[in-house]
Amino acid sequence: MTLSHGASNKISSQNTVETRLKIKRLLEPTLIVSPSAGNDVVKGLTQTPKSLPPRYFYDDFGSELFEQICALSEYYLTRTETAILQQYASEIAQITGSCELVELGSGSSTKTRILLDAYHQFGYSLRYLPIDVSAGMLESSALALLEDYPTLQVQALAGTYEMALTQLEPTQLPTRMICFIGSSLGNLNSQECDVFFSQMTDALEVGEYFLLGVDLQKPKHLLEAAYNDSQGVTAAFNLNMLQHLNWRFEGNFDTTQFEHWAFYNETENQIEMHLKSVRSHTFQLRSLNLNVHFEAGETILTEISRKFDVNSIQHELKAKGLVPQRVWTDSNQWFALLLCQLQSLTAV
Ligand code: AVI
Repeated sequence: MTLSHGASNKISSQNTVETRLKIKRLLEPTLIVSPSAGNDVVKGLTQTPKSLPPRYFYDDFGSELFEQICALSEYYLTRTETAILQQYASEIAQITGSCELVELGSGSSTKTRILLDAYHQFGYSLRYLPIDVSAGMLESSALALLEDYPTLQVQALAGTYEMALTQLEPTQLPTRMICFIGSSLGNLNSQECDVFFSQMTDALEVGEYFLLGVDLQKPKHLLEAAYNDSQGVTAAFNLNMLQHLNWRFEGNFDTTQFEHWAFYNETENQIEMHLKSVRSHTFQLRSLNLNVHFEAGETILTEISRKFDVNSIQHELKAKGLVPQRVWTDSNQWFALLLCQLQSLTAV
């Protein structure tokens, strides 16, 4: 791990950044997605209808665009979840007590600060384990946290959460809480969601906690506005996936030949985000040895964002042994935060 002198000088010599921050890379920096990266692109672009995995949104520029989306007035998700966390973080801290906080897809760790403040307020010991595919993002947000929380220990894992969850060692603290906030669960289809819950139950010991943030079903016009913002940031985020593929796989996608298309599918209760080809053409991804032909109007599904019913999700979690202890929502019931505890299935 390399740290800038400027950052390490700000911490006292007995309590240096080096002793409080460890970053473990589970992936080579050039392989941020996985060693088999590209197979999923070939599969998605050779099937009908075409699709691409949403993880390809997140190159450096895509991550920056996502941060901008979170601040948009139409994108109610981030501010609503933040408000719920602000209101109930103390309650969460009081329920778990001192704990190891594992955060999946930690990004800039902005919302995490609300939890850290609550644990500090009660004087609880805390160890923070952020997990993210971007080692750069992990390092910069961890350094900022260490500066603001002088006793915090951070052990960051750079990799996918599938990889990182299998690498967790038993915690030295009384309990552990895995956080999956921001409604990222909505980006998994129901089969992937099932696998994810099983990974969660494998990673937790009985009695440990799982904090989940999910976006709830609401009128179509509110949902569609959130994914079709007036400034076109979401459109840029969607189109940037093609630029990312160009860079990663020596491609020649022309982004001016595609349009952002997002709508709410009321049967599936999900936003669907597509890239629609404006005319017929063929593009190439040279390092994947792939030519992709598009008809005019043909689409690539780049993301689903499922919207949940608070009773059904509780039911689903409980069936997996992740028993909801508390469910908090905002006054509009737009978003929910669920604190679950793993119980052995015979006890549920
Ligand atoms: C990361 N995820 C929860 C976002 C969502 O709302 O599904 C991704 C996103 N896509 C477009 N806008 C935001």
